[in-house]
Amino acid sequence: MAILEREPTDTRALTAQRFDRMSLDGVSKLPPVDTTGLPPGPPWPALVQTIALFRFRHWFHPWLHKTYGPTFTIHMLPGGRPFVLFTRPEDIKEIFAGDPEVFHAGKGNSVLGPVMGEHSLLLQDGGDHKRARKLLMPAFNGHALRSYQGLITDLARDEVAHWPAGRTFESLNRMNTLTLEVILRVVFGVTDEQRLAALRPCVNATVDVNPGVFLIGTYRSLQRLPAYRRVVANQEELDRLIYAEIRERRVAPDLAERTDVLSRLIREGQDSDDPTERLDDTELRDQLVTLLLAGHETTATSLAWALYELGRNPELMRRTQEAADAADAEGDAWLDAVMKESMRLHPVIPIVLRTLQRPATIAGIDLPAGTTVGPSIVVAHGDANYERADEFDPTRFLGQNPPTNTWIPFGGGVRRCIGAGFALMEGAAILREVFLAWSVHTEHDDGPRVRNITSVPDRGARISVVPR
Ligand code: HEM
Repeated sequence: MAILEREPTDTRALTAQRFDRMSLDGVSKLPPVDTTGLPPGPPWPALVQTIALFRFRHWFHPWLHKTYGPTFTIHMLPGGRPFVLFTRPEDIKEIFAGDPEVFHAGKGNSVLGPVMGEHSLLLQDGGDHKRARKLLMPAFNGHALRSYQGLITDLARDEVAHWPAGRTFESLNRMNTLTLEVILRVVFGVTDEQRLAALRPCVNATVDVNPGVFLIGTYRSLQRLPAYRRVVANQEELDRLIYAEIRERRVAPDLAERTDVLSRLIREGQDSDDPTERLDDTELRDQLVTLLLAGHETTATSLAWALYELGRNPELMRRTQEAADAADAEGDAWLDAVMKESMRLHPVIPIVLRTLQRPATIAGIDLPAGTTVGPSIVVAHGDANYERADEFDPTRFLGQNPPTNTWIPFGGGVRRCIGAGFALMEGAAILREVFLAWSVHTEHDDGPRVRNITSVPDRGARISVVPR
């Protein structure tokens, strides 16, 4: 097909530049931090604490809370940098309300630079972040979200129609496939079947990249390793496909009517004389890859946990089926509550972080510049703030919101997840299609396992389904 053969001019060079620029500069160039006077924490070596935080977060956070109280310090690699974690809603509020010029989030994500690119919303701070956020926001407002719903419903209906009745399967796999399709069609707006077929393996390989690979890339001598070269080659191909899509979309005759996220982003500021009011091709690429990486596995995981919990509780499942059948505001509220409770009980992201660019005071504690601070989402969602915290009970979110800053799966403040409304709408639309068609039964107990930065069901949330 012609569009796949047309090679955009310089996309390989752009990929190479990104990988060349890769570094942990944002982290390693921070000044040393004086740690006297910081809240208490374990005296273990930084390596042990780093492993505990990333690999064993599900017990480590509650253990720290129990042992050291509501605010504690851990020391992380590189260099034993202090992370001060807060768990009380009033303290979390201070972090989220902090001055964005002081509370930077982007630098901590710089390890993702080679894949996401320097313009990624997740990597930017200060004025650059503000500008990018302003340009992206219209594609995630209520009006835009409503326009995505029909296509998501169609994709979900097609997906669940192929589920094997009576056989056990990993719901996480199925949800990953489905939310990937949502990103490709609803966010990227790709319709050409051949391009979709070319994009899927590249996107899957990108999502599967272990961030550890980028540590390899910071050593030139190790850049010849096959694992590293495969990652670069995959990125080159992904970039080639994305740039081709962007260039074609810019001149598509139906651009004005298209509702996908990419078309909306291209239209944003199109008529303005000021180039800073629109996104150029490189910026569009970086934001698309960011939306893909931030929005696909996260949503799939919350959905898999929701199916897992509902499949263990016939009463809640029956109620979910009634909500799906009702297709009214009350039914929608129930599906929304199921998603929210799934995100509370099984937070996909355990923590969000900000690094202080100047000294700041939080909860009355004076913290020096260079300290990294953040709320522990794991603790905030647990028995510190919730009765019967281990129980899956969507009624907590029915007709009410939990107290401010006790439910923070999407972080908060000016960095709050831009896709929060999208994820909740998508989750409800998918649950509706699942429960219109099937009764779900959970086949095995499951628990959280760390996969890159997300917490996924260890056994894939295995379920079986029978037709209703
Ligand atoms: C259950 C699903 C999701 C969860 C749990 C989740 C969680 C998060 C969290 C915790 C953050 C960091 C917030 C902070 O630092 O305060 C974040 C940021 C972000 N998320 Fe999500 N997310 C989800 C779905 C999505 C979706 C569907 C998209 C887009 C399609 C998306 C795009 C983003 C972007 C672009 C950011 C960076 C925002 C910024 O720095 O301004 N996320 N998300």
